[in-house]
Parts: sequence; structure tokens; C-alpha cells
Amino acid sequence: MIRSAVVPVAGLGTRLLPATRSQPKEMLPVARKPVVEYVIDELAANGIEQILFVTGRNKTSIEDHFDLGESAVTKFFYTRQGSPRGLGDAVLAAEHFAGDDPFVVALGDSILGLHAKSQAVSRMIEVFEHNAAACVVAVEEVPLAETGQYGIVAPSGVENGAVRVAHLIEKPGPEKAPSRLAIAGRYIFSPRIFAEIRRVEADQRGEIQLTDAIERMCTAGLRVYAVQLTPEERRYDVGNFASYFEAFVEFALADPVHGAELQEMLRKKFEVLAV
Ligand code: G1P
Repeated sequence: MIRSAVVPVAGLGTRLLPATRSQPKEMLPVARKPVVEYVIDELAANGIEQILFVTGRNKTSIEDHFDLGESAVTKFFYTRQGSPRGLGDAVLAAEHFAGDDPFVVALGDSILGLHAKSQAVSRMIEVFEHNAAACVVAVEEVPLAETGQYGIVAPSGVENGAVRVAHLIEKPGPEKAPSRLAIAGRYIFSPRIFAEIRRVEADQRGEIQLTDAIERMCTAGLRVYAVQLTPEERRYDVGNFASYFEAFVEFALADPVHGAELQEMLRKKFEVLAV
């Protein structure tokens, strides 16, 4: 049973300026709710009972938001990443919270599926437990031209119905990408990850990459697996305007109260444009 999750929300959101000048990107609304609330709802629906947010400067509105929420079962904890030194460094801040138990990491700017109806984390937990894994990552197929935006896995075969990962590489260009399977914002780790993060050297931008720590697990012979998202679970990334707009429009069009009205309004607008 995995009951704990870590949600890193300390990123600066520079690709979403000026919207993120004084508010976290994780608090941007996608239709009715802020991005991070979808992430929390998804985790709760996948059996998670306690969540640690790794926050930073300008992120206090996230704490205020969940103070006032209606979440009956989920318990929230907060810690801070002193300076933004990469995703690996953010996860390292969860060492005390995780203790000796495995845990989920869910990126606070990634929604899985329309209205976050994803069971991917439950499938990942199953793979983790049945295969004595050290790590399981969610993956999604991306166009070859886009591999440079993601962590990419090199699959090595199937074990107990799960894809084993031989290697991972952070943001390789298309010529270096070992596949088109990109890490998609959800991970499960054994606490061994902390020792590996500590051994990772910072990249050229001074960031400690989480992907590099997982790669160290692979080379140490530990079992790492990938679970693919279904098309209904596609990842909505609120890290840049193009994908934020797409997420907002899709969620608004599917709104139970205003969706139909909005569809009609857009249909009329496009009819006029088409004339
Ligand atoms: C991070 C990870 C990358 C992953 C991506 C989407 O990158 O480093 O491996 O593919 O999230 O989950 P970022 O989007 O923060 O640059």
C-alpha cells in the first residue's frame, strides 16, 4: 500500500510570465479549479492519504487554498526548497516525510486526463509492488521532434506485463532519443532514490535532474519500469501558454454547466469566420 505523495510546486513558472509574476503557475485556473487541485483530486482517487508539497517563494496561496478546501481524508504537509535547484533537489526535500516507505511524486503542473480521471498511479503502484521495483515512471508517446523537452526512456522488454527500463536520458535531441516514450509527470520511488539524488552532479544550468538519479538506479541494476498513459489519460502540461490554453479550452468545453453554451458560442464564431 502506498499512501504518501510528494507534489513539487517550487518551479518559477518563467514560461508563463506575466501570469506568474506574483502567483504560482499551479494556481492558474483550468476552467473551474486551479491546476494543482486536479492533481490532488487525482491522487486522492488513487488511494493517497497524505501529501507533501515542496514549495518555494511566492507559493503561499497554495497553502491558503487547501486550508479552505473540503478534502475530508487527505492530509497536507508543506516544506520549502530554499532555492530552485531542479526537480531532483525538490524531491530530496521529501526525505524526512517519506521515511522508509515508497512514495508517489506527482508534478503540480501536470493534469492527467480530462478532469483528471486517471488511474495511472494505481496501475503504477501495482507494477511497483508486483515487480519489487525501485522506481516506476508514467510515460506518454511524444513526436520525435519534441524529445528534447522531456525525460526519455529506453525500454528493454516486458516483465510480468510491465515495460522494463534499461536507461533514461533527460531532454535528448531527436538524434539521441532512445525512444519516443517521455516521462509524464508521475513517479513512484523506493527511498533509495534519495541516496542516488545526492550523487547526481548538477547540469549546466545548476539543476539536479531527477531523471539522472533514476538513471543511476538503472545502472546499479535496480528494477525500473514504465507504465504508459492511455489516450484518455493524456497529460495536460500547464508549463507554457500553448498547452495551458489548450487545457483551459478543453476543460471549459467539457464543463457540466457551461460547456454546451460555450460550444455553441464557438460554433457560431467559427461559422462567421468561415464565411
Ligand atoms: C520535467 C522532467 C522531465 C519530464 C517532464 C514532464 O521536465 O525533468 O523528465 O519529462 O517534467 O513530466 P520540465 O517540464 O520540468 O522541464
